Amino acid sequence: MTSATSLFFPVEADLSLLTENLKQLVGARHPILYAAAEHLFGARGKRVRPAIVLLLSRATMANQEITPKHRRLAEITEMIHTASLVHDDVIDEAGLRRGVPTVHSSFGNRVAVLAGDFLFAQSSWYLANLDNLAVVKLLSEVIMDLAEGEIQQGLNRFDTSLSIEAYLEKSYYKTASLIANSSKAAGLLSGVSAEMAKHLYSYGRNIGLAFQIVDDILDFTASSDALGKPAGSDLKSGNLTAPVLYALEEKPYLEGLIEREFAQEGDLEQALALIADSRGIERSRELAARHAEDAVRHLEGLPPSESCQALIELADYVLSRLY
Ligand code: IPE
Ligand code: IPE
Ligand code: MG
Ligand code: MG
Repeated sequence: MTSATSLFFPVEADLSLLTENLKQLVGARHPILYAAAEHLFGARGKRVRPAIVLLLSRATMANQEITPKHRRLAEITEMIHTASLVHDDVIDEAGLRRGVPTVHSSFGNRVAVLAGDFLFAQSSWYLANLDNLAVVKLLSEVIMDLAEGEIQQGLNRFDTSLSIEAYLEKSYYKTASLIANSSKAAGLLSGVSAEMAKHLYSYGRNIGLAFQIVDDILDFTASSDALGKPAGSDLKSGNLTAPVLYALEEKPYLEGLIEREFAQEGDLEQALALIADSRGIERSRELAARHAEDAVRHLEGLPPSESCQALIELADYVLSRLY
């Protein structure tokens, strides 16, 4: 598997700086937040989103150095993402994140909700201070979308009539919106044309959808150890993702098991076996691959550079997580 670290080499130094800055920015205000920030930003997430922002910043700035605003945008993006994870883990009652205990399991639900709120609020403040109204609009919509995504997911639990389209819409809200809008924002900070801005948005949108579909496959196929977060939890909690939705088309018996919320002993195991025996995982992989390919097509107008090449390879990296 390509490691994210080698892929991100054109922005490696930028990313180290970013991690230090995030700890400072978030931790400065309160000891408990300092603890949470150390915990969150020390426990090395993959930093895919800020890497995309930084790579796109470099790819759209030709031979010029990227600006402090580009860097701040990357920080804001990771801050928003991390805030959403802190809240997501409360909602999912997940005990592990980035290989360490979640904020709520270490500090309690109250601290986790407040820490998430604080991260969202602080990201809005730094966003406003970029003094770029178009960028403010893009990223504040993301915060709305994240909440919309969690709500849609909550409302559709155990609903076997969910369509792939509805699943993709939810995935846009939960995951792709942040990557799409921060990608476009990076371009706006570089002064790209309106047309290029649209392509950057579409790159981010498709990478984001591929990324979420892959995450949803890994929830079935990978171990908690490898993921640094609980595996096998989506189906159990009624979050019906691509592999299940495809499997339902082949295995009508699965529907009943899900509708009764795995109430009887052995239901969940039986459901997992039905999914494993279906083409669900394979078709989900194909769906992710289609989005990854679409993403790359939207980079065609960028001048060739190391950063642009890394963005192209990132599409393969997202898929390679499956192998
Ligand atoms: C987790 O995102 C949430 C999803 C959208 C699947 P990442 O897999 O990027 O999590 P970190 O930031 O590396 O921990
Ligand atoms: C993405 O979805 C989480 C957010 C964008 C908040 P998941 O619920 O699949 O994320 P994980 O699997 O917990 O990381
Ligand atoms: Mg989750
Ligand atoms: Mg997941």
